[in-house]
Amino acid sequence: MDGKLRDNDISHVVEADRAHVWHHLIQHAGWTGPDPKADPRIIVEGRGMRVWDQKGKEHLDGVSGGVWTVNVGYGRERIANAVRDQLIKLPYFAGTAGSIPGALFSEKLISKMPGMSRVYYTNSGSEANEKAFKMVRQIAHKRHGGKKHKILYRDRDYHGTTIACLSAGGQDERNAQYGPYTPGFVRVPHCLEYRAQWDLSGEEYGLAAANAIEEVILREGPDTVGALCLEPVTAGGGVIVPPEGYWPRVQEICRKYDILLHIDEVVCGVGRTGTWFGYQHYGVEPDFVTMAKGVASGYAAIACCVTNERVFEMFRDDATDPMNYFRDISTFGGCTAGPAAALENMAIIEEEGLLDNTVAMGDYMLDQLRALKDKHAVIGDVRGKGLFLGAELVSDRGSKEPAPEKQVQAVVADCMAQGVVIGATNRSLPGFNNTLCYSPALIATRDDIDHLVSATDQALTRVFG
Ligand SMILES: Cc1ncc(COP(=O)(O)O)c(C=O)c1O
Repeated sequence: MDGKLRDNDISHVVEADRAHVWHHLIQHAGWTGPDPKADPRIIVEGRGMRVWDQKGKEHLDGVSGGVWTVNVGYGRERIANAVRDQLIKLPYFAGTAGSIPGALFSEKLISKMPGMSRVYYTNSGSEANEKAFKMVRQIAHKRHGGKKHKILYRDRDYHGTTIACLSAGGQDERNAQYGPYTPGFVRVPHCLEYRAQWDLSGEEYGLAAANAIEEVILREGPDTVGALCLEPVTAGGGVIVPPEGYWPRVQEICRKYDILLHIDEVVCGVGRTGTWFGYQHYGVEPDFVTMAKGVASGYAAIACCVTNERVFEMFRDDATDPMNYFRDISTFGGCTAGPAAALENMAIIEEEGLLDNTVAMGDYMLDQLRALKDKHAVIGDVRGKGLFLGAELVSDRGSKEPAPEKQVQAVVADCMAQGVVIGATNRSLPGFNNTLCYSPALIATRDDIDHLVSATDQALTRVFG
């Protein structure tokens, strides 16, 4: 595990991949077909903040496994050992029964989430969100004659890949060509002040963006709206940190119209922004919190739909009704490796003080990116919270014309050639796939951050001059 490949010739692996693997979110034209221009990239090993590809080339991973997941970094033997021990003891039993790691992780998780009380295990972020949507619908049927069934979601937010999650998806390029969608999902405006929809700033902007949600509720009819689903800090829609005043007003609106608040922490959850959960920066009290990626840092698949007792109670308060429980199952929600890994993951974050490191390194990186903005006119805006940051590229600072996607991708590719993995908003928003994304593991040091920023600096110079 030192980045040196034991088997020097893995060309058969590359060819098997080229012939048979359908990669996620990638155009295959470059490496499949009669005249391939390149080989598929295969990541072979990882250690700490670094990964090695099939050629043995080392990369600094600035995006925690590509999609903000490996929060505690690679090569954590104690997680692997915990998973191994658990698999030998009991790999699986359906979630109709409990398991030792499932019970212990739920206790540990809830201890980090005051006000919440129940953990429903699933196997992906999309599925966790679907569970919350189903709960909202079932509550509507049981208590509101089916009427209060609408779910509000926000422009630019993403909640997953299934058709129902895409129906709650605020990223039109990601959604395109997968309709027709599930009825009953209604969009509210985004809250990105840099792309302002109102001539206001700061807290006044935050209040206006939240009030825009109220307008949608009033237009639809509050008695038809069951829930509001939001990312605490929008991820793939452009790394959007909500303005001051936004969240308290959102909470107030939900309470006023008896609308359940669902916070999608699939990216922000378990440390990414420097608190256990993103919503905890804002003093919000959600009804549902969904999480996935960082829960076990990708060492095993686990996702959770966490509710408060008020929601849980609505599924058990009428034992005379044989339909009044959550009639849902997730086969792999019964896997034990996930909670076994998640327990170790959380222990590592606590023992190594990684929340504090995330705050300190996040602030440092924000400063470094702001300094880069002073140097490169192409950076229009820098934003972020903790180790979750974005730099929006524009062709012109005055008009804020987004930089062409090809050039944004060229910056990412240049960094990759330097052995540094960064991300960019990808097939999300028509004409606005122009934000560079950073989400290094929570163990990042100043040196790692300097390396990420300096690679970006060089790439911007080469691509934009
Ligand atoms: C905010 C958010 N919610 C949900 C999901 C879906 O999670 P999964 O890919 O595990 O289904 C994602 C995935 O990127 C996400 O970013």
